[in-house]
Order: sequence, then structure tokens, then C-alpha cells
Amino acid sequence: VVQCVGTISARNFATLPMALSPCAINMSSGIRRAICEQLPQLKNIYYALEVPSKVQNSTATRPLLQWILPADVAQHENELLDSVKRQQFDTSFIEDVRVVPRNGRNAAKVEFQIQPDAFAAHLLQADSVVPKASAFQEEHVVVEYSSPNIAKPFHVGHLRSTIIGNVLANLHQHLGYRTTRLNYLGDWGTQFGLLALGVQLGSISDDRIREAPIETLYNAYVMANKAAAEDPQLAQRARELFTSLEANTDPTLSCEWQKYRQYTIDELTGMYDRLGVHFDSYEWESQYSQRDIGDVLTQLRSAGLLQREHDGREIVVVDERRVPVIKSDGSTLYLARDIAALLERQRRLQFTRMLYVVDNGQADHFNALFSTATALDASLKDKLQHVKFGRIRGMSTRQGKAVFLRDVLNEARDVMREKRFASATTKANSTLNDEHVCDILGVSAVLVNVLKQRRQRDHEFSWQQALQVNGDTGIKLQYTHCRLHNLLERFGDIELAEIKPSWQHLTEEPSDALAVLYELARFDQCVWQAKEQLEAHVLVNYLFGLCNATSRALKRLPVKQEKCPDKQSQRLLLFRAAKRTLQQGMRLLGLKPLNQM
Ligand code: ARG
Repeated sequence: VVQCVGTISARNFATLPMALSPCAINMSSGIRRAICEQLPQLKNIYYALEVPSKVQNSTATRPLLQWILPADVAQHENELLDSVKRQQFDTSFIEDVRVVPRNGRNAAKVEFQIQPDAFAAHLLQADSVVPKASAFQEEHVVVEYSSPNIAKPFHVGHLRSTIIGNVLANLHQHLGYRTTRLNYLGDWGTQFGLLALGVQLGSISDDRIREAPIETLYNAYVMANKAAAEDPQLAQRARELFTSLEANTDPTLSCEWQKYRQYTIDELTGMYDRLGVHFDSYEWESQYSQRDIGDVLTQLRSAGLLQREHDGREIVVVDERRVPVIKSDGSTLYLARDIAALLERQRRLQFTRMLYVVDNGQADHFNALFSTATALDASLKDKLQHVKFGRIRGMSTRQGKAVFLRDVLNEARDVMREKRFASATTKANSTLNDEHVCDILGVSAVLVNVLKQRRQRDHEFSWQQALQVNGDTGIKLQYTHCRLHNLLERFGDIELAEIKPSWQHLTEEPSDALAVLYELARFDQCVWQAKEQLEAHVLVNYLFGLCNATSRALKRLPVKQEKCPDKQSQRLLLFRAAKRTLQQGMRLLGLKPLNQM
């Protein structure tokens, strides 16, 4: 029986390196079910690839072009076969590659004949299924995410950016892209004059700021804002403070500023750790000083993009839009700093792609940024992308206050602890109150609840929903991981490394084992798709599916009660592979997989 289990269209050529791993098989769930039922009888599986006769040399098709001359695929059958064999992927399961010309369709079909035993063994084998070679290491992807402002609360929008950006960076890194993670903190603009004023008015000590920088600085800002609204003299003083900060004429003030920034990073790093997030570099709006911006203005002017207004404002005119970059008092605006930052990053990092993970509300800003920057440097065209996302509503503590991220995370932890106590049969269990476990569970609930949504959609957050064990939640992922871990630990004395995968032992039961196997086979494909669409929910939903298939298999394919030692050990191999894949997926989401909860 010959069966074609999947096609790769010309659209996703870039998946080809992974297509050679059976993990990439792209199937609708209907086909998957059919195959689960038929697989035991199949002799050969074909993995088909449509190759149009003309392939444009683009980033997406480069991996393919490394192997074949697409214009005459049919004449190069042997070369294709050779080059497939030469790949660093585990291709032991590919028995043959055939090229089938498609007359009249201006295309050819390449079929990879896959050997079912080797295919299953590959999925069950001990080594991880991470692709070993990457066609993408030449690409340098910079992801800018989180980017909160000093003196303003770390709001839910920043949380969404932090979580989504981290996953996008993880996905690229996992697939072998060179990846740089940036946090671009807002510490500049006239409101920082107010902040400095607030610290002076309140005679706030350094110690107090160090203790809780984000909250203290925010309170100082709010206080000064109020005071300045009532007293024009204070408002004037705030403006002057900012001007002297920007011109660097007051060394004490500049030095204080430097310290606040450091304290803020220290506090943020602690929260990022809880969220499983990290950065390669923290950068500041203030880094792009008058001087860099002066250079940018010169460039803009000589490109004919800049207009000076009567009141002294400088306006960029691009794509029939007029966007101010310099205020009438000479101070720089957000857009001016962003242009300077982008050009500087391009020089320093030589990126091939730059993703800005920032909420929908800033779409106009990024349009203006991208048009202006591309007008100055045409090579930036197609490299820049604003990864937009919608709002999250309702993420607040039960007292209704959620100005600070820390409150949200602590709330998640506390709610989790209460739930654990409420559902525990023996309250004496000492792990119930385990701070670490409660925190990880709470954070998992929040992360997954945010990530399972389509990015662009607005979303209503509910603690009730986020913390369910049985629904599609982070708790479910953790719970399944713990079950798999405990099972494997209980049979720790069975030396799994010695056991040869033999999936015939797995096919006797109804399709429970095969369903898990096919979920495993889909992992790479989902990772790829999530990266292509810049949508974490693709991976999250995949993991829910993997957990559901695994739970059913855990119920119907017992290990302990199984008498036949072969069946027993094959089931263990299957559950080990499920655990490994779940773990890998969870880590990509930024979760810390628990072994016990
Ligand atoms: N700090 C800004 C804010 O909170 C977001 C920065 C986004 N990144 C950028 N390059 N403009 O609104």
C-alpha cells in the first residue's frame, strides 16, 4: 500500500530541512485519524513535496535551493537523493526519494518514501528531536519586547509584550536563527522632569527608591504631576529639570538618574526571572541623545524629509504624513529616538529581521518609523515588523488594583495556594504551601492564558478560567508533565536506553498510542508554524492536544498492570517521548516544567 501522508506546498519550502524529519508531517486532523487507523497495515509512506518548476531565490526558498536546481527537478533525481542523504538530519527513515514530473502543471512532485518502523523509532528514540543543522544561522533576528517605562506602571500591555516577545525569540532560537533579545526601556521625555521633581518635592531617600524602585518612582511621578497641574511654576521647574537632564548640565541629577535606572533593572530582572524571560541587552531611550538625533536630523534634512515649522518644531514628511520629531523647545520626541535607535541597531547588530512586539495602539508610530527609516536606508525594507497585539481586560487583583506587575504575579501565586488548600484532602501536605511551586503554577496559569489567545484579539482575563486543572490551562500542562514524570520515575530501574523502539507493541490497543505518536510527529511542524505566523497560540494549542492524547493513553495503556514486559517497556518509551516533547514545548513558552505539584 502506498500512502501519501502529507504535502508541502511551494509556500512552505523553508520547512524542507525539517520536512526530512517525519516530525514535520503536515496533516489535517481527519487525515491523521485515518492514518492512525491504517498505519499498522502500511508498507510505505510517502511524504510528497510539490516543487514548481520556477522557484524564486528568496529567504524562504533558500534551504531548498541548496539542494536542487528547481528548474529541472526531474533531471536531477539522483542529485536530489544524494543531497537528501547528505543532510545532517536523521534520515534513516527515508528509504527513497522519487521525482514525479507533473506534465502540464509546470511542476514536479518529490516523494520521500518513509519507512514506518524507522519513522516510529525516530519519534521514540532517546535523543531529542531538535533539528541538528539549521539553514537559518545566517539570519539574525532581533526581537524587541517588554520595553516598559520608568516611572510609569508596568501595565498589562507590557506583560503581553514580555510574554509574547519571549516566545517569539525562543522559537527563532530553537529553529537555529541567530537571535538577539532587546528590552528598550522608556526613561526619557518631559515626564521625567516631573519624576525628578517628585523625588525632590517628596525628599525621597535613595534607600527608599532602592527598596521598591518601580512603585516609589511611580508615586513620585503621580505626586509631581498633580502638584504641577495646580502650580505653573512647578510645571516650569519640571521642564527645566528635564532640559538639564537632556543637556547633561547637572551632574548630580544625571548621576541620580543613572542610579534609578539600575534599581529599576534590578527589580525588573527579578520579575522577569519569575516569568522565565531574559534579555541579551537592556537599552534605554536616553541612550539616543541629542547628538545621535542631530545626526539623524542631518540625514533626514539632506534626504529632503524634514520640514522646520515657524514655531521651531521639526516635522518629518513621509508617505504624505507629517510627524513631529523635535518639539519647539528643541527637545526630542519618541519617534526621533526610535529612528536613531533603529539606525544604530542596524549598524551594530546587522540584523536581517527586526521584530517590535508592541501593542496595537502604536501602529501609527511604527508605520511612521518604518517609512522614515526605509526612506533613509532602503536596505531596511522588508526587515522591519511591528508585531501587534490587542488588549487584555480584567487582569487585576481581587481588590481591583493592578498597577504593578508584581501585584499580578503575587495574586496568581496566592490564588493558586488557596485553591490547593481548598482541594487538598489532607491539609497536612507540606508541599501545599510551597512558595516556589505555587509561584510557578500561578505564573504558568497567567502565561498560558495570555499565550493561548490570538495575538491581535482583545481578551478578557479571568482568574477562574486561567486556573482550571481540566480546562485548557497552564495548570493542565504542568499537571500532565508531573504525571509523566512520576510514571517514569516509578519505573526508573527499567533501563530505557537498552530498549529498541518497536511500535508493533503499541498498535494493539485502539489508536491511543498512535494518537500520541502522531502528536509527537507534529511538534516540529507546529513550532515552525508558530514562528511563521508569529503566533504562540499555535504551539499552546498543540500542547493541549498532546496532553489530551497523553492523558487518554495514560488511562488506557497502563504500565504497572501490564503483564507483557515488551509492551510495558514500549509504553514507557512512548510516555518518555511525550514527556520530552511536552517539556520542550513548555520551555519554548517560558514555563518551568514541574516534577511534582
Ligand atoms: N516604552 C514604550 C511604551 O511603554 C514602548 C516602546 C516600544 N518600542 C519602541 N521601540 N518604541 O509605550
